This record gives sequence, C-alpha cells and structure tokens, in this order.
Amino acid sequence: MPPTGEDLQNHPQLQAPKRDKPLFSPGTGEGQALVIFVLGGPGAGKGTQCASLVRDYGFAHLSAGDLLREEQDRPGSEFGDMIKSYIKEGQIVPMEVTIQLLENAMGRIIEEKGEHKFLIDGFPRKMDQALGFEEKVVKSRFTLFFETSEEVMRERLLKRGETSGRADDNEESIKKRFRTFVETSMPVVETFEKEGRVERVDATKSAEEVYGLVKKVMEKEGIEPVKKQ
Ligand code: C5P
Ligand code: MG
Repeated sequence: MPPTGEDLQNHPQLQAPKRDKPLFSPGTGEGQALVIFVLGGPGAGKGTQCASLVRDYGFAHLSAGDLLREEQDRPGSEFGDMIKSYIKEGQIVPMEVTIQLLENAMGRIIEEKGEHKFLIDGFPRKMDQALGFEEKVVKSRFTLFFETSEEVMRERLLKRGETSGRADDNEESIKKRFRTFVETSMPVVETFEKEGRVERVDATKSAEEVYGLVKKVMEKEGIEPVKKQ
C-alpha cells in the first residue's frame, strides 16, 4: 500500500524546518514571492494560458503535475511508485510531497534567475494543500480559475492524449480526474471565492480568445506586462 499523508508527516526528506511564519512574504523583492494559483478542471487550458503569461509578464511557471511527474521519473526517488499510483487513479498526492517540490523549485528559481513572480498551475487541488502552502510558503495574491464544461475538457484531453504519452489522458482516468476535481478541488475555489480572492475566466473559446480575457484580469489586478526591448 502506498504511504498515506500521515506516514509522510514523519518522513525525513519532508521535514521542512519548523517555521512560525511563511518562508516568503508576498511581493517581488528580496525574500519575497508573488504567487498566482492557476486552477481549472483537467483540460481547461491552464498550461496553455500559463505559457502566454510567462512570455508577456515574466512569470516563472510551476506546474504541480509536471513536478510530480518529474519526481516520479527521478531515478532513486522513494516517492516514485506512490506518485504513479495516485496519478493513474486521478487522486491527489499527499500534500507534503507536492508542497516540498514547489518550495524547492521556487527557491531554485529565485536563486538562479532572480525571478520572484510565480504561476502555480494545478495547485492547490485540495483544501489541505491550500492551507499548508499559504501557512508555510507564502500567501497567494489571487487564484485564476478557468471554467468550462466537462464536454469541452474531455475533448481537449483525448486530443492531447494522442501525443502526450500521459498515463492519465484516457477515458478511464479522465472520468476519475473529473470526479476528483468536483469533489475535492472545487471546495478550494469556493473557499477562496468567499474571501474575494478568485478571478474566474470562461475557458470555452479558443486559446487566443481566452488569453484576451486573462489579460483583462491582469490589468484589473494591477499586474503589468514586461516591456520588450
Ligand atoms: O495538473 P495535472 O493534470 O498535470 O495533474 C496530474 C495529476 O497529478 C493529478 O490528476 C493528480 O493525480 C496529481 N496532482 C496532485 N496534486 C496537485 C496537482 C496534481 O496530486 N496539486
Ligand atoms: Mg497541466
């Protein structure tokens, strides 16, 4: 049986130093990080929109799913088998692993590239991830939420499945991922929404049209594109 969240709390590689405040404060200066969470059902177009935002706004893009797949494939990872089975079943990997992967990646990007603006894509997918991350790492600025119908998402995922090589872009896994999204991830969006921290974007139309809406949100939030030389 794969380890549960409880087993992982005591895992030596996941013992983030005890902190009485988050690692970063919100912002773009020294010791700071500006985080936008990017949520939406599987196939809503999160990754596609993030790529445009990276190009125009100078964000660093961290996909929680990509980080998990990377860790899964890393030779010698002791979490590999566990991650694999959660992903296949469309279930949410225990938060300790995902938060630690994100924190490590953020630290590396700040150190190596001096970038402090992050799009965290596909995260938080469960209430404990949201609370854990904001308590330990940094409070997010807002959540960009892409919404569209399951029909549209299913079509996009099956199309992507023709070339993605992903173990979960098939009918069986897609069904499970939709269910996890509705039951486990939507409560996160609803909680943030009550706090007035969600920007909803209709993700039904083409990538270009959706991006037009995203740019309006950025303007409203006072986030400026990076000027090209
Ligand atoms: O976002 P993406 O579709 O790439 O995520 C693939 C899978 O990775 C999810 O279905 C889930 O099993 C896992 N995941 C997770 N927690 C996250 C993001 C992804 O457990 N925050
Ligand atoms: Mg993605």
